[in-house]
Amino acid sequence: MTRFESRFGLSLPVALAPMAVAGGGTLAAACAKAGALGLVGGGYGDLEWLRAQWSLASDAAADARGRLGCGFISWRLDQDDSALAWLLDQPLRPAVVLLSFGDPGRHAMRLQAAGVPLIVQVQRLAQVMPAVDAGARVIVVQGQEAGGHGAAAPHGRGTLALVPEAADLLSARAPDVLLLAAGGVADGRGLAAVQALGADGALIGTRLWASREALVPPAAHAAALAASGDDTARSGVFDILRRKNWPPAYDFRALDNDMHRHWLPRLADLVADPAAARADYDSGVAAADPARMHVTVGEAVGLVRDLPDTASLLARIAREWQAARARLSL
Ligand SMILES: Cc1cc2nc3c(=O)[nH]c(=O)nc-3n(C[C@H](O)[C@H](O)[C@H](O)COP(=O)(O)O)c2cc1C
Repeated sequence: MTRFESRFGLSLPVALAPMAVAGGGTLAAACAKAGALGLVGGGYGDLEWLRAQWSLASDAAADARGRLGCGFISWRLDQDDSALAWLLDQPLRPAVVLLSFGDPGRHAMRLQAAGVPLIVQVQRLAQVMPAVDAGARVIVVQGQEAGGHGAAAPHGRGTLALVPEAADLLSARAPDVLLLAAGGVADGRGLAAVQALGADGALIGTRLWASREALVPPAAHAAALAASGDDTARSGVFDILRRKNWPPAYDFRALDNDMHRHWLPRLADLVADPAAARADYDSGVAAADPARMHVTVGEAVGLVRDLPDTASLLARIAREWQAARARLSL
């Protein structure tokens, strides 16, 4: 059993990535019931959404509530932390809270006061020890293969080199702090690979986004099934289109669809006059047209060939993981 499994009562060293919008209560509960850590995608901190999804999660997870947690975007909490405050006030407290993208600072102190363990997701080695100093019990290092937001292109790190570098740092400076790898893990081979690199487990987004329980329009799932790992790209295009004011240190990986291909070489025009493009994007979202909206997946989309239910998917990953470990004698 890995340290991550024993620390959180898991039967597989996997955490569901907290995916804004897509990662609702049903998906988090399905992960928790299957023995993984189920993190609801609290994302931008929409209180009404979280109320509904947390109640779905706690009803559906019944005997697995101790494996339910939630993730938030730190820079958004700096502006409005009402969803976190609400969550910490619930009779069913989260087993853990994950913070990404920004300084965990005062939110970490609040979690510590509430006795809720903190996971911090970072993108660069230099962010590891500050996150530990802020009180993180688990660090997720996110490679730029990942779906969704991450370190902006010139400074993004790859999972393969970042994980062992972070593992060495933690083992020298904070050996009790666990390490998870995020970015590109979609099957048992990937899980065994990051374990071999020194991680205690993996945080998985894209592969679990492609499951029956994820809150994803069917046309977006169909577009992902048809894509290879070559068909994604990182940029700020979709953040401009959807009016998200992300700090410049971050950009966003999604399917490189018609809309993205059109605007990527015209970024300055888009910034200068986004109105018509935003109207086109809004109508694409309303029509669930994968050519005119963001389909948030990482490079691991190339390993997605079906849309199973979460329990079967995690059982398959567990079998593949055992087989890969036996093959590699891990
Ligand atoms: C659809 C989607 C939405 C995401 N939303 C968030 C989010 O709200 N907060 C966050 O910390 N990370 C978010 N991420 C990034 C994940 O936390 C994680 O780093 C990533 O999914 C790991 O890489 P993978 O997609 O290759 O598994 C999102 C990822 C995806 C695919």
